[in-house]
Parts: sequence; structure tokens; C-alpha cells
Amino acid sequence: MNKSTITLSSDPEWYRKAVFYEVMVRSFLDTNGDGYGDFRGMIDKLDYLQWLGIDAIWLPPFFQSPLRDGGYDVADYREVLPTYGSTADFDEFLQGAHDRGMRVVIDFVINHTSDQHVWFQESRANPEGPFGDFYVWSDTDKKFENVRIIFTDTETSNWAFDELRGQYYWHRFFSHQPDLNFENLAVHEAVLDIARYWLDKGVDGFRLDAIPYLYVSEGNTGESEPPTHAFIQKLRAMMDREYPGRMLVAEACQQPHEVVDYFGTAETPECHMAFNFPVMPHIFYSLRSESAAGLVSTLESLPEVPSGAAWGVFLRNHDELTLEMVTDEQRAQMYEWYSPDPRMTVNVGIRRRLAPLLDNDRSQLELANALLLSLPGSPFLYYGDEIGMGDDIWLDDRDASRTPMQWDDSANAGFSTAEQDKLYLPVVSTETFGPHAINVASQQNDPSSLLSWTRDMLTLRHRLGVFGTGTMNLVSASDPSVLSFLRSPESGRGDTVLSVFSFSHNTLGVRLSVGRPNVTLLDAVSGQPVGATDDDGHVVLELAARGWHWLVLGP
Ligand code: GLC
Ligand code: CA
Repeated sequence: MNKSTITLSSDPEWYRKAVFYEVMVRSFLDTNGDGYGDFRGMIDKLDYLQWLGIDAIWLPPFFQSPLRDGGYDVADYREVLPTYGSTADFDEFLQGAHDRGMRVVIDFVINHTSDQHVWFQESRANPEGPFGDFYVWSDTDKKFENVRIIFTDTETSNWAFDELRGQYYWHRFFSHQPDLNFENLAVHEAVLDIARYWLDKGVDGFRLDAIPYLYVSEGNTGESEPPTHAFIQKLRAMMDREYPGRMLVAEACQQPHEVVDYFGTAETPECHMAFNFPVMPHIFYSLRSESAAGLVSTLESLPEVPSGAAWGVFLRNHDELTLEMVTDEQRAQMYEWYSPDPRMTVNVGIRRRLAPLLDNDRSQLELANALLLSLPGSPFLYYGDEIGMGDDIWLDDRDASRTPMQWDDSANAGFSTAEQDKLYLPVVSTETFGPHAINVASQQNDPSSLLSWTRDMLTLRHRLGVFGTGTMNLVSASDPSVLSFLRSPESGRGDTVLSVFSFSHNTLGVRLSVGRPNVTLLDAVSGQPVGATDDDGHVVLELAARGWHWLVLGP
């Protein structure tokens, strides 16, 4: 292939049409046999990602870190963790991605640092020094008592006592992750400078990690407080001015009416994208309850996003499948369905991968992915889910679903040494999910594999065009197991697609009120006509158990 013919699209709204792929460097490919994935491995696998049909890669933190939170405990924002390679390796990776028409979004963890960060070390040792005020210090731990604890499995307070300074410091996550003090404008400048450092290198955007928690004030919840939004506006304004075309995606696990605030407004824009946390657990709920009701009402309650903004939709990521966005009853029910072993539960969620969650069942995997790929917004795939990789619930914390990518059937996939190291992630070893059963090499050669199916679906999604940017209108269905919506091109030009998903475990007939009289419906996957709407815009369809269709509306 002639690489020089591929360039990045010049469309400033590229993220609205992109399929993203999240991959932790540590977990992808180890090229020097030290037991950790590295940037050389990332470079080697760019061709694979391009072949798969990925438009943008999201890299969780790959910076200097003690790795006590998978790298979300950053000790130096400008240094690549030596285990992963050098800055030059990163540059080569970024260039290689761009040469293949793929963009790279990196994690930006600004709510907190590692306690190993020199800022924190200075702050503890020298309260009057330049970093004395970089963190949230207090003589008492009886402040901000309305603020909830996020890591409920490990933390009992958001305060920890530092012996050296003789004061408490504030932390929303692990106690080894002190929160930065955004009341201090020097912190703003430091953070903006780090952003510039990576933007100068050419990264295409940032995922704003844990972004609701920047500011905390007495009597409030420490989530989405007004100055937090003001800081995001400041970051966005800097990027629009100095680096147009780069993007921000917000990690804010909140209800729809709250999370939408992270897009900002036309006058005061914030993030280009925000993850759609509310919709995700409802997909899993529907798959077991056989009812689309929760999904329908979640989609109905999603506010309009401002022009140019987009949801990031996902099924799984490097964290637990969080159940924060469902009711207590639904959560209890979901633990029963999806976490039969207490080892699978962590914090308020489940630390399992997609394929084991869905019984390694092809029809469930296809239904969930087809829905993901046609929801409003841009899909984020999690590495390994394209081949149906498994997990290892005996690993610590969320490492359960961060095991090495299974490239071929050799049990180590390059991750052979360092077993004595507690940070070492072994390859999944069960019969069902080990590399003999699940690997890229065999699935690449098999047109009926999940990998081939995923690739075909990404090709089809690109061809249809409408799913990234189109509008969505729910279509009412006579059967409560069925979710259906129309996606129409925002420009008015191009195909309109009717998506239909049955969560029923049995075949059924359903009457859909499409609202478009006398149009033919062409199955986008098979290319075959499946009927037409009547004079009143209705159509009756037969759906297989967990059946789904993407139907292109004809003239
Ligand atoms: C985000 C990350 C998670 C991390 C936490 C603290 O939620 O996704 O992995 O532990 O922030 O940085
Ligand atoms: Ca390595």
C-alpha cells in the first residue's frame, strides 16, 4: 500500500465520524520480552488497526508512573514510562498513525497526580515554596463532608494525613493520588503547558480523565461545580486559539442532564465529546431483561447536543462496567445476572470483559455491537473485544480486563517474563478464552470470525455515513422487546437508516411506526429488500431471537 497517498482528513469535526479504539500500551504487544507492551509494539500493530477500520486511537496514560492505578497516577506528565519506550518511540508511533490516516487521542489526567510527582513531594516538604499550594491541604479532615467516595472498595475517606507536612490532603481516588488545587492559578498554567507540550507533538486530542472533580467547595458535592466548567472553557479556548482541529472528550459518569453540560454552549464551548455513561448499562440490562424500555427512556431523555458536539458510546473500557447510572433495583438485578462470583464485582460495577459477560455468545455480541455502531455518536471499541477476548478475575482490581492482546496461539504472545513482578499481567489461560481458542491470527483468516464480522461492520458503518453525524428519532414498536430508531443525514443528503434490535430470546413479529409511507426497506448487510412501509408508514417485521437490522430507506 502506498502510505503517502493517505492523509488525515482536514475536517475539523473528524471525531464525529470516527471509530475509536482504546488500547493500553502495556497490554498490546511486548517487543523486547520484558513482560510489558511497548511503543515498538504499538508501531508494529498500526497496520492491524488500519486494516480493522479504526479512525482514532485512544491511549490511556503512558507517562512516568509507579503504576499503582494503571498509569492514572502520573509522576511526570512529559516523560514516557521507560518500560514503554522513549519519547522518540512515541513520536514515531504518532507519525505512523497519522501516515495511515488515524488520529491519536491521549489521556489527560489533571484532577490528581501520583504522590510520587515532584510537585507533591515539594508541596509536602515546603508549604511556603512554589508548590506549597498545588494540592488541597487542610488541618482537619472534617471538610467537604457531602462528597461521596468513588473507590468504595479501598478508600474510607477523601482525606489522607501526610506526616511530613502534618496536614491532610484531599484525594477523590486512591490516597496515593492527591488532587491538584485548581483554586491556585499556577496549577492552571502548569496544566495548560502540559497540554501544549503534547499538542505541539501533534496529538489530536485529550480524554479529560475524571473531569467533574476539579473543584470542591463546602456544602457541595465536589462534582461539576461551576469553576470546574469555567476551567474547561479556558482549556478549550486555548486549544481553539492555538490548536484548531484538536478535540476534548469528557469522562463524566453522570446523568444525561448533567453530562450534557460538559459540551458547554455555542458561546462558551467545553468538550467536543462526552462519553455516554447513561446509555451503556441499559444495553446490558436490555440483553437480560428482554425489554428495551430502559434504553428507550434513556435515549428519550438524552438532551440535544450543541452543533459540532458528539457522544462517545462504548460497551466496555479499561475500567469496571460501572453501574452508577442505573437504579438500585436494576443494579441488584445486574449483579445477579452479570456478577455471579463476588470476585467479579469491584466498586460500583463489574470487572469483566464483553465476551464473558455475554456468555461468549455470538448473537448477543453481534446485537450489542450493531447497536453500539448505530447509536448517535462515535463508538469507542476496547482492544481485544473485536476477537472476543476473555478476562482474568483473579488479577487485582480492574486489571482483570487488561490482559495481553492475544495475537496468536502462542500462550505468551510475547509477554513471557517478569512473572515475579506484581505488575505483570499474564495472558488469559482458560480453555474457552486462552490464546489457543481466541487469537487474531486465526480469526483474520476466517471470514466467519467475530474479527471479520467486526471489520465488515466498520466498513459498512463508514459506507452508510449517517451513523456518526445523523439525527436520531425513536420509532415506536408494538413489542416492548424491540428498540428501533431512524438515523437521518443532517445535511438531508444521503441514506436514512432504520435500525431495529430485538432483545427477545425468541422470534417475534413487530409492527414499527416508521412514519414514512410507502418506502422500501433494504437490508444494509445482505443487500436484500425486506419489505416496505404501508400508506400509514407502518411495517411489520419478523425478527429472530436477538435479531437486528440496519434497513436503508428506499424511494
Ligand atoms: C478514571 C480512569 C480510571 C482511574 C481514575 C482515576 O476514572 O478511567 O481508570 O482509576 O480515573 O484516575
Ligand atoms: Ca516490552
